[in-house]
Amino acid sequence: MPVDTRAARPRRYLMCRPDFFEVTYAINPWMDPSEPVDTQLAVTQWERLHGALVEAGHTVELIDPVPGLPDMVYAANGATVVDGKVLGARFRNEERAAEGAAYLNWFRDNGFTDTLEPDHLNEGEGDLLTTRSYILAGHGFRSSAAGHREAEAYFGRPVISLELVDPRFYHLDTALAVLDGDEIMYNPSAFSAASRATLERLFPDAILATDDDAAAFGLNALSDGRNVFLSRTASSLAARLREHGFTPRLIDLSELFKGGGSVKCCTLELRSAA
Ligand code: ARG
Repeated sequence: MPVDTRAARPRRYLMCRPDFFEVTYAINPWMDPSEPVDTQLAVTQWERLHGALVEAGHTVELIDPVPGLPDMVYAANGATVVDGKVLGARFRNEERAAEGAAYLNWFRDNGFTDTLEPDHLNEGEGDLLTTRSYILAGHGFRSSAAGHREAEAYFGRPVISLELVDPRFYHLDTALAVLDGDEIMYNPSAFSAASRATLERLFPDAILATDDDAAAFGLNALSDGRNVFLSRTASSLAARLREHGFTPRLIDLSELFKGGGSVKCCTLELRSAA
């Protein structure tokens, strides 16, 4: 597709400054509590991502970070917002449990009147990715199948369950990214054979990323339909995106990799009712 046919739509995101970011526990293979974390560098890198989104014309809301919740910087996990409706998160790991209420309170304090505190496990947009026609939902490591059904009932949109099989790609947003409408990119090897078949059937034109692209957090990307913000370590994937008419915006979030996340993890999209 020629470059000039891609159009960005201004969007609204929620982010959380990593003022209290550190790695004190390990709940995914990227986390190593014995490796030092430079919190100030994490803040600087996060500020550059924030600045890049604002510069691209987007609105970024902020939630106050809470001491003792170091993973709160990964705002994508805090909730899922579709049509102005907010499905809160329920975390699998005790270490992150308190983030669910912290995020839900932010929504209730900021004018979101339709909110649901979930009964079943779902880690927000980490595992629930919204395309034009579907909500794609990851399970296998964090969110549960019951959590998917709860999302489907609440949002009234078809939820497609996808099984993740590689612990490095424990959240769906580390293995798959929505680019525009029903255009996606993903790493086939992160999924079970049955889920790969589902993706091939629903998204025959998807961009297939390599395992190296995914291991560089290239799929933990944020697209506004034109600009795709992604880790600067994913340069080969950036080239593929350019061929498809997107404008890659390379971001260095190396310090946030230590918690197991990158661009997408740090942002939660606030989708209003159409
Ligand atoms: N340390 C966090 C965890 O393991 C990282 C979450 C990354 N967020 C994401 N949306 N993939 O839960």
